[in-house]
Amino acid sequence: MTEIPEHLLKRSAARKAAMSGEAPAEAETGTAVEQAAAASTPAVAASAPVPEVYVEPEPEPVAPYVEKFQARKKMPFWIIPVLLFMPVWGAFYFGTLERVPQGLSGLLGEGEHVYVESGCSGCHGAEGGGGIGPSLANGEVHLTFTTLEDQVVWIAKGSAIVGTGENYASPDGRRRLVAGQMPGFGLGAANELHMEEILAVTLFERTQFEPNEDAAFRDLELTEQLNLMIETGELEELLAADGLSLDDIPDAADLTAEDVNEYLAPAREALAGAES
Ligand code: HEC
Repeated sequence: MTEIPEHLLKRSAARKAAMSGEAPAEAETGTAVEQAAAASTPAVAASAPVPEVYVEPEPEPVAPYVEKFQARKKMPFWIIPVLLFMPVWGAFYFGTLERVPQGLSGLLGEGEHVYVESGCSGCHGAEGGGGIGPSLANGEVHLTFTTLEDQVVWIAKGSAIVGTGENYASPDGRRRLVAGQMPGFGLGAANELHMEEILAVTLFERTQFEPNEDAAFRDLELTEQLNLMIETGELEELLAADGLSLDDIPDAADLTAEDVNEYLAPAREALAGAES
C-alpha cells in the first residue's frame, strides 16, 4: 500500500473542514512535526477555499436631511381616491370658467358685463343654464315675457315688489309665480342699474340665450337700431325732449311696460318707418 503524502492528507482534511465550516481539528491537536509540515506548505493552505461568511456591509452614513426624508409620513391612504377624483373635479371646474359668447359690442357687450357684474350669472348660470334662479337658456325668457318691456319691468322690480305668489310673466306669456329671491334692480335696490344697463342685460338675455335666430330676430333688430341711435347721440337727444335719459334709474315701485316703451319708442318708430 502506497503511503499518501502527509501534505495531501492535510489538504483533504482542510477541504473537509472548509466544507463543514469547521477549522481543521489537527491545527490544535497536531504534533510539532505536523505543525511544522503545515507551516512548510503555505501555498497549499492558501489555495484551500476559505469559507465565505456573509458579512453585512456597514451602512453608509446618512445625511440628516435624508434621515428626515426616510422618517417622513408615507402618503395617507385617502390620497388615492382624492388623486383619482382630481381630473373629474378639474373638468367641472373648467366648465365653470366657460364664458358666455365673446366679442359682443354695443348694448350686448354692456349687457354681458352687467350680467356678470350684477350677479345675474351667479343665480342664473354663466350661460343662463339656471341655478338658484330659473334657466334663461334656450329661449326660456321668450316663453315668460312676450315683450322686452315686460322683462325690463320684472328685472327692475324683482320678487319682493311683485310679491310672493303673484304672476310676474307677460299677460300672454306662460304663468310664472314668484317664489322669492330675485332681487330688484330699480330705484332703491341694493344694486341699482340705470335704464340703459337694464335694457342691455335684457337684450343680452333675449338674444344670447336664444339659439333660434327667428325667435331672437325682433330683439336683434331693435338692438342694432338702438346701438346706431346711441352712437350718433340721436336717442339721448330725442329722449331729452321728453325729459328722459338712458341714465335714469327706473322707479321700480311704479314702473310699467308703457314707461319702458317710452325709452324704446324712438328706435321702434325708426324701425317701423324703415319697414313701411
Ligand atoms: C339671488 C339670485 C338672483 C339674482 C342675483 C338674479 N336673479 Fe333673476 N331670478 C331669480 C329667481 C329666484 C327667479 C324666479 C322668480 C322667483 O321665484 O321669485 C328669477 C327670475 C328671473 C327671470 C325670469 C325668468 C323666467 O323665465 O321666469 C329673469 C329674466 C331674470 N331673473 C333675470 C335676472 C337678471 C337680468 C339678473 C341680474 C341683473 C338677475 N336675474 C339676478 C334669482 C336671481
